[in-house]
Amino acid sequence: MKLPQSVNVLLLGGGGREHALAWRMAQSKRLAKLFIAPGNAGTASVGTNVDLQPTNFASVKQFILNNNINLVVCGPEEPLVKGLFDYIRNDEQVRHTAVIGPLADAARLEGSKAFAKAFMGRHAIPTARYRSFTVNSLQEAAAFIDSLRAPYVLKADGLAAGKGVVIAPTACEAKAELRAMFDGRFGAAGATVVIEEFLHGVECSVFVATDGRNYKILPVAKDYKRVGAGDTGPNTGGMGAVSPVGFADEAFMAKVRRRIIEPTVRGIAEEGMIYHGFIFIGLMNVGGDPYVIEYNVRLGDPETEAVVPLIESDIIGMFEGMAFGTLDNYELRISPRTAVTVVCAAGGYPNEYRKGDVISIPDDAEYPDVIVFHAGTRSEAGRAVTNGGRVLAVTALGETLDQAITRSYEAVGSVGFADMYYRCDIGQDLVEMEVEA
Ligand code: AMP
Ligand code: GLY
Repeated sequence: MKLPQSVNVLLLGGGGREHALAWRMAQSKRLAKLFIAPGNAGTASVGTNVDLQPTNFASVKQFILNNNINLVVCGPEEPLVKGLFDYIRNDEQVRHTAVIGPLADAARLEGSKAFAKAFMGRHAIPTARYRSFTVNSLQEAAAFIDSLRAPYVLKADGLAAGKGVVIAPTACEAKAELRAMFDGRFGAAGATVVIEEFLHGVECSVFVATDGRNYKILPVAKDYKRVGAGDTGPNTGGMGAVSPVGFADEAFMAKVRRRIIEPTVRGIAEEGMIYHGFIFIGLMNVGGDPYVIEYNVRLGDPETEAVVPLIESDIIGMFEGMAFGTLDNYELRISPRTAVTVVCAAGGYPNEYRKGDVISIPDDAEYPDVIVFHAGTRSEAGRAVTNGGRVLAVTALGETLDQAITRSYEAVGSVGFADMYYRCDIGQDLVEMEVEA
């Protein structure tokens, strides 16, 4: 079984990640029709946006039937954790539609931090030392905190809109935070809390495409999570990305493959999970040794906006391999260039910000090595206006990291909307690491 030669795709999501995926799919000779739900002003230029709620599975099914969809690509985690793939697979009428993602059972690798930690334990995958607790074991939890060294990492077990991880500087604050989590600070997601030791190192994001047995590793990326230059201020969804990253060299990646990726994919297969999707492994490089910080069951945003432009082989062919267990036959070709993505955010993000400001973007022709991906945008009377905190993700490709940084900031200088904010130092830490090396 495989996809037809001409493929109709439904892409779920509406951020920069989805614009990057849509942009790449639109370049495939195998694409027939591309629908994006809900999409943004950028995806509307490469496909058709549809007003469809990705977690409303019955309406997703109806859309598949009405539009002869062959492939559903799910950008965000929520529909997968809630059982999108299970719904489609168990439905007589749409069961042959390919879905990119895991079944809900395997989506717990992202949906439950306690499940993910236990999985790593079963397969001897290196991760921070931890224990998980419920409100009934408050005393043991306090004792466990006392057995660790500061700072302390507390993670609400369930999905908490990316906010469920708290790093507490002192044991006293960690215990107060723990009580707040049990008191419902993150709702039901905090009924179980994982407490773990803090790992010191540099983080990176490794995306693995898998069919549940075979895998391909995409270029490693680094994400810039804090809002301010020099990694200061509150956490955001991500203010920029670089791919590939110099410190993830061959020696490091050999360890990542042997100690982490292979046991993860083998564990998925051994536990009988159905997984036709991306495994996003958040890694900490601790003095040259990789440790898993977290799994996600999707691609990262804004890392995707840096990684996808580096994929030169046909992305629909990759999805086909993932969906039909033939990923070993797919030849993944990667550009030797470096990609740098700078996120242009609405002033005030990640706190309050305005929406509805008109966005001006230069002609593509002016910056041939730049792609301006839309994130929080929508079309209004034929113009793109701001519609979210992270508005644009400006990616530039260069022969070197320096060149990609320069090109990206040149392009950022030419886009605009009222009160635009961006970090000025995306990639600078990696330039400094290269100089030191
Ligand atoms: P997220 O789960 O994406 O909200 O991210 C939580 C962030 O907390 C990670 O990206 C890390 O920067 C940090 N973090 C999580 N676990 C640890 C840990 N064990 N040691 C150090 N930092 C951590
Ligand atoms: N950039 C991190 C994430 O997508 O979770």
